[in-house]
Amino acid sequence: MTMPISRRGLIGAASAGIGAAALAGCAGPMALAPAGLPTLKSAAASRGRRFGSAVAWGPAGSDTGSFANPAYAALLERDAAILVSENEMKWQAIRPGPEAFAFDRFDAIIAFAAHRGFAMRGHTLLWHRPKWFPEWLNAHDFGARPATEAARLLTTHIDTMIGRYGAQIKSWDVVNEAVDPDTGALVDTVLSRAMGGPEALLDLAFRTARAAAPDAELVYNDYMSWEPGNEKHRAGVLRLLEGFLARGVPVDALGVQSHIEMKTLNPVTGIGPYQGTEWQRFLQRVTGMGYRLVVTEFDVRDNAQPGSLARRDRGVADYTRAYFETMLAFPQLRDILAWGLTSRYSWLQSFDPRADGLPQRCCPYDGDFRPLPMRAALIDLLQQADAI
Ligand code: XIL
Repeated sequence: MTMPISRRGLIGAASAGIGAAALAGCAGPMALAPAGLPTLKSAAASRGRRFGSAVAWGPAGSDTGSFANPAYAALLERDAAILVSENEMKWQAIRPGPEAFAFDRFDAIIAFAAHRGFAMRGHTLLWHRPKWFPEWLNAHDFGARPATEAARLLTTHIDTMIGRYGAQIKSWDVVNEAVDPDTGALVDTVLSRAMGGPEALLDLAFRTARAAAPDAELVYNDYMSWEPGNEKHRAGVLRLLEGFLARGVPVDALGVQSHIEMKTLNPVTGIGPYQGTEWQRFLQRVTGMGYRLVVTEFDVRDNAQPGSLARRDRGVADYTRAYFETMLAFPQLRDILAWGLTSRYSWLQSFDPRADGLPQRCCPYDGDFRPLPMRAALIDLLQQADAI
């Protein structure tokens, strides 16, 4: 079974060249952000927004992006009001078989959140990509009535998740990444083929979620972005959202993952290229249809940036600033979640490593838990934004 999930933290830390000693030796987050200064959480709250972060499961004392690491828990408590589980609610993690669920890891995360007063998002009820299905599902025998069996597998899943966690989770990524970025068409999987097409499956996911969680925010989440090359992806997502509207499917918000990328640099600005006008128009089309926005998985790849750490950090902060100047102009955007607070545990260290082998500096804190200029830029922008 190809499942990088449980090894993520270890791979990330190893490829970033960071050992446990670095954590033990770091000054500790409290020394670096004196009480009374604004935080991501307080800056967002001052304008009616919520800032949050992904968190992972890890055994007590492990050096992972887990609440079980006290140093990371301290960062989360300082900067996040809302958490999302990085992997533990995905089918690969929580649904080991057609009739089986494995709740332990997600239960531990949600118990931590409840105990410390964090809100939680649910990610995700259906990641509609064969690559991210559990192996048993890709190989499943759907029998003589495939549509009925596909519907049973899906609705059992959604009803079980919302039944168990719905009291704490009020915002759900019901469907994740259903649009093919290369063509803009909907992706097919064994489930959608059994149902007779992706629309039927996605509609069923949202209708089931709405029946189980009448008051929750139901989100379609995807990574269409503002860099050149995302044109078909954006167009495909717009078509999907238009279709939901036309068919009366209960979708409340678009989750804009916001894994923004500097894979090349604009020679004039020195930061990654982006299509600001097209991006703004895309968001206007989305909100014009009545959808809210959620920034669900923010981080910044800085692969193309050469030079000193200071220069890289400035580039990431400038790119972040440009992005959130556009995003925060939308009153439909309330929740903003980073895909992890520290670059130390970021999935990008293994998913998209830099050619020079240096760690990505992609999150609000660096690998030693020191705040990066990106964090200051975000605090500044959140404080200056209009209240919603
Ligand atoms: C990623 C995790 O960060 C990794 O640990 C895992 O190996 C793969 O998934 N879009 C999403 C997230 O919706 O669920 C992905 O998370 C990142 C891209």
